[in-house]
Amino acid sequence: MFLKNTWYVAATPDEIDTKPLGRQICGERIAFYRGPEGKACAVEDFCPHRGAALSLGYVENGNLVCGYHGLAMGSDGKTVSMPMQRVGGFPCVKSFPVIEKYGFIWVWPGDPAKADESLLPVLEWAESKEWAYGGGLYHINCDYRLMIDNLMDLTHETYVHSDSIGQDEIDETPVETSVEGNEVITSRYMDNIKAPPFWAAAMRENGLDENAHVDRWQISRFTPPSHILIDVGVALSGTGGKDADPSNRVRSVVVDFITPETESSHWYFWGMARNFKADDAELTKRIREGQGRIFGQDLDVLEAQQRNLESWPERRLLMLNIDAGGVQSRRVLDRLVKAEKEENSAAVNT
Ligand code: FES
Ligand SMILES: [Fe+2]
Repeated sequence: MFLKNTWYVAATPDEIDTKPLGRQICGERIAFYRGPEGKACAVEDFCPHRGAALSLGYVENGNLVCGYHGLAMGSDGKTVSMPMQRVGGFPCVKSFPVIEKYGFIWVWPGDPAKADESLLPVLEWAESKEWAYGGGLYHINCDYRLMIDNLMDLTHETYVHSDSIGQDEIDETPVETSVEGNEVITSRYMDNIKAPPFWAAAMRENGLDENAHVDRWQISRFTPPSHILIDVGVALSGTGGKDADPSNRVRSVVVDFITPETESSHWYFWGMARNFKADDAELTKRIREGQGRIFGQDLDVLEAQQRNLESWPERRLLMLNIDAGGVQSRRVLDRLVKAEKEENSAAVNT
């Protein structure tokens, strides 16, 4: 259950810099590599000769060479050459539109004719010198929508991340959910509280008194297909919350690009963009390590949840007010997937 005519984060550039990468995205097995002039390319990970995985081969003169018997594949999915063979009649494989932007390799796993660069999300923090970014990738064995649920309802922080970003006030403060077109927003504001350990450390790094009371905010924004950006931070109490003068606050964007692999597994590109001490590479590293640990805690919860749901598919689950963000996001997805299916079947019937 996923949209295919849309952009997903497929990889980070370093993953294809030295050799091809085989990665399944939305059920499509894809070989990513640097083709002509180093440009990121993607073709089906299937050699037309005997079906070997092209991603196990190597790049030569901008072509992806199959590591089995040397067939050279072009970035358009047409065989360029093969030792001792005429290749004119060889069947083509699919090629996929790819864009390298904002520090990610993006792929369009659906109909290439519909690929449109203007549909990429706009990520200002990725292009501004005032922001620094650190992140990582987890492979998670669960339906990508369980991760959407997780990020659109941060009450779990109190329990899953009690030693870092969790605190009782999250549980005690109601969450607001709103829908604007295809966007779903959940927000929570906690005023005059003590900063939990992760934020206390961030305050210290930013020259603020870590023991001072703060106003904390969390604003999760879902946009299709499965991007969630969370505006998070703390400001010295009473100085204006997220709009406080930068000298009184620490503010970050938690970045979550959730890319389905199969119906029951996904690639989770996580990270944090911050607009304080952007030049401090050591700080980026420390935050990245801390965040990696925190998100590793979610991984265990979600994989076990997936196993349970597969074992008891008939069990009815509760739908509480804290679940509204995930529920609304799934509604948007259901609507868009249905529209995509109708469009595809209309195209077949004409
Ligand atoms: S399987 Fe690729 S060249 Fe033979
Ligand atoms: Fe979490």
